[in-house]
Amino acid sequence: MSSNIFWHETVLSKTERQKQKGHQSAILWFTGLSGSGKSTLANAVERKLYERKVHSYLLDGDNIRHGLNKDLGFSDQDRQENIRRIGEVAKLFVDAAVVVLTAFISPFREDREQVRELVPEGEFIEIYVKCSLEECERRDPKGLYEKARAGKIPFFTGISSPYEEPSAPDLIIETDRLTLEESVDQVVKYLESRSII
Ligand code: PPS
Repeated sequence: MSSNIFWHETVLSKTERQKQKGHQSAILWFTGLSGSGKSTLANAVERKLYERKVHSYLLDGDNIRHGLNKDLGFSDQDRQENIRRIGEVAKLFVDAAVVVLTAFISPFREDREQVRELVPEGEFIEIYVKCSLEECERRDPKGLYEKARAGKIPFFTGISSPYEEPSAPDLIIETDRLTLEESVDQVVKYLESRSII
């Protein structure tokens, strides 16, 4: 960063923006294997938030890779940069008093912890969307596991690239044991218990 750059405080504060909206803001960080149900769960949670008039926005891995991060691939470095940029974007949403939901594999613990460090304590909520590799592979909604097993996709998470499970997630949702409705319920109850909504 150039040394001739200065931080400007905005006239309107995050607290004022949260007060106007009537709720806190936070990052709901959904992490898990491809096919674990991150996007499905995040979309269903966002629908519930919308019904409760909570201002929210969903950043989804596949979609963000069509635009902001279309220059990035799936090497460790590119995934790290992917998560770094999303973390910065998510931080802006929190400042705008929006509950931001992110659905990225985000396979590396250190990258997720760096996002946690970007916002005040308690405003990064790591939700581990837990599902066995066997079940993800059985679901294979996009046929990617089959391609990866056939050696047609290099560095595929869980097959030829690692996934580091969260060591102390704020919430674990086991999508191979719970229905979607039960999973959404758990997330919403957690947000209520933390007075975020
Ligand atoms: S990461 O690891 O957080 O940077 O990945 P993310 O931005 O979430 O993108 C994951 C989606 O990209 C598709 N895809 C792959 N996933 C994993 N490994 C490889 N090599 C790969 N190539 C393409 C896949 O559709 C992922 O979507 P989800 O929703 O997770 O299945």
